[in-house]
Amino acid sequence: MILVTGATGTIGSELVRQLVARGIPVRAMTREPGRMQPSAGIAITQGDFEDPASLRQATEDVREVFLLSAPGPRVPVHDRAMVEAAAEAGVRKIVKLSAIGSTDEGMAGNWHAAGEQAVRESGLAWTILRPAGFASNALRWVPAIRTGQPIPNLTGSGVHAFVDPRDVAAVAAEALLSADCDGQIYTLTGPELLSVPDQVTQVSEVLGRDLAVSDVPLEVAAEQMRAAGMDEAVVSVAIRGAELIRSGGEKTLTADVERVLGRPARSFRGWVESNRAAFG
Ligand SMILES: NC(=O)c1ccc[n+]([C@@H]2O[C@H](COP(=O)([O-])OP(=O)(O)OC[C@H]3O[C@@H](n4cnc5c(N)ncnc54)[C@H](OP(=O)(O)O)[C@@H]3O)[C@@H](O)[C@H]2O)c1
Repeated sequence: MILVTGATGTIGSELVRQLVARGIPVRAMTREPGRMQPSAGIAITQGDFEDPASLRQATEDVREVFLLSAPGPRVPVHDRAMVEAAAEAGVRKIVKLSAIGSTDEGMAGNWHAAGEQAVRESGLAWTILRPAGFASNALRWVPAIRTGQPIPNLTGSGVHAFVDPRDVAAVAAEALLSADCDGQIYTLTGPELLSVPDQVTQVSEVLGRDLAVSDVPLEVAAEQMRAAGMDEAVVSVAIRGAELIRSGGEKTLTADVERVLGRPARSFRGWVESNRAAFG
């Protein structure tokens, strides 16, 4: 039995789908089981990283855990709670979804540094995945596209190697099922560096629609995030991440997806083509 946490989210739901397709029994964890559709091969369990008793129950009779903690300053606390429950339950391995930049102080990925450490020091087998920004973050543009507004660009002509969530989930599946990935840290990127205007051009070509981009100064973006109710710590980290890309300081490109899966990483355009309907 494999426990998948974050099973209702972007990577977790795709991982559940891929494991079930391979005939692997999956326990899917969510805080609200009523939100998940019951389906063959999936045992849904209620679990909250803030509730240790629920984690003890979720890890019972589990061999491997996919650990996905929601982004934010609680990541280290949540990861430690799961490591403790997994060790108690006799779990063999934890695959932790971290983020690119986990070693960079003040960046979003850095929320994961202490969680990575807890996993590495757990005494269990482990694999750490550090993905780049997900291609699916482009779905945030859907309201602008639907209402004919320009797509906001916080990162100017700065580039990033967006990764397809299906590739992240596929690497996670391999890491859960193969001891070859034990003790490895993979930085997962797409195959090419793209700016937001490059991405918008590709979305525009796939949808067959003209789309405009408008540059948003970072001070304005920060104000908009605060007005939307975002926590100051999260605003600060989001702005620093945008600054890094804007200044051309984030150009990581790796072959780790290919190293694990034996085929090249999927492109951003490929992700858009598969998700054309979501853009309306
Ligand atoms: N988005 C990116 O570009 C990107 C890039 C690199 C790394 N990452 C990392 O990927 C991870 C996922 O981020 P995301 O934005 O894509 O979110 P997501 O996985 O789409 O959604 C968050 C998931 O966390 C679960 N969750 C939230 N609070 C929880 C709690 N207290 N206990 C148990 N489960 C909880 C939610 O499940 P329920 O609501 O069903 O409980 C949901 O499935 C984060 O660790 C993030 O740092 C993201």
